[in-house]
Amino acid sequence: MTETMRAVVLDAPGPPDALVVRERPVPVPAPGQVLIRVHAFGLNRSELHTRLGLAGPDVTFPRVPGIEATGVVAACPGGEFLVGQQVMAMMGGMGRSYDGGYAEYTVVPASQVLPFSSGLDWATLGAVPEMLQTAHGSLTVGLDARPGQSLLVRGGTSSIGLATAVLAKRLGMTVLSTTRTPARAEALQAVGVDAVLVDDGAVAPQVRERFPDGVDAALELVGTPTLPDTLRAVRVHGTVCFTGMLSNQWTVPDFYPNAYLPRGVRLAAYSGDAGDLPADVLQGFLDDVAAGTAVVPTGHVYRLAEMAQAHADMESGRYSGKLVGTT
Ligand SMILES: NC(=O)c1ccc[n+]([C@@H]2O[C@H](COP(=O)([O-])OP(=O)(O)OC[C@H]3O[C@@H](n4cnc5c(N)ncnc54)[C@H](OP(=O)(O)O)[C@@H]3O)[C@@H](O)[C@H]2O)c1
Repeated sequence: MTETMRAVVLDAPGPPDALVVRERPVPVPAPGQVLIRVHAFGLNRSELHTRLGLAGPDVTFPRVPGIEATGVVAACPGGEFLVGQQVMAMMGGMGRSYDGGYAEYTVVPASQVLPFSSGLDWATLGAVPEMLQTAHGSLTVGLDARPGQSLLVRGGTSSIGLATAVLAKRLGMTVLSTTRTPARAEALQAVGVDAVLVDDGAVAPQVRERFPDGVDAALELVGTPTLPDTLRAVRVHGTVCFTGMLSNQWTVPDFYPNAYLPRGVRLAAYSGDAGDLPADVLQGFLDDVAAGTAVVPTGHVYRLAEMAQAHADMESGRYSGKLVGTT
């Protein structure tokens, strides 16, 4: 008899209640794949794009969404991981071209899996993989960030923005973060942000009041509407990394570099994969959280049956911090 599980299925793009819980067979892993008993999974804007039909052609339906999952290994025919081992999985087509994390079980390629060991609760652990990977990758690959440097985070109250602030403070950077919502200043200060800037569209002048030559580095999470102003906030030979597009706008029409880029300011981009998060970085971060010297910026935790509400909340920006589903 085939074992069954509960999974959230999206038959086609639609409103939040297009996400429905169904009984499905537990997927069977082939050699090179890992069956994970999912305990928690972070929610991502990528899944919002999938649900809204804005994702690329690699997304096919019906689909169990979820570009990340956290749990324990239930089966691993190739022997890459031990049954019972704690793991996180992310990216690599998960929840896009094959079924992902919004389920009690998921099968993923072993290449997308990272082991860890932690006594933290599952909801906290479930918030970590994609958020930490993107924040770490943006700071390292994207910005080559160094201790003592100054960093502007545009879209600071997003989960990626908050996680980047946490990592940047651990690195010894000075962090300036933006929000459009002044009442969220406290959430930014709670993760160690040095200066909160209210984003009225012109952040560069506010940055230059504090750093007249501009900051060393900036992380763009809002998208192309704010990118020119973010570029103007950065010093000559400083770098802007384009990682996010909270505005849902990510292209620059008629890009003419000499008119678009301030002289000497560098523009990079980051889009990551599990391989950008070394297992020792993940473990070190989790150990610091357990020791109380780092925090996981979690916004709200939902049950599997509450994914429609979770997506409605993500779309309306109800919470700041990472939204997490638990099974
Ligand atoms: N490159 C990669 O590998 C990668 C990986 C993961 C995520 N991302 C991207 O990173 C971005 C952040 O993702 P997330 O999951 O951390 O987001 P999130 O937590 O859902 O961010 C929500 C916050 O973003 C701000 N926001 C929403 N719409 C905005 C708009 N139009 N303009 C300015 N701010 C807006 C709001 O803050 P305020 O009200 O406080 O302003 C809101 O509270 C997304 O664009 C996501 O697609 C990229």
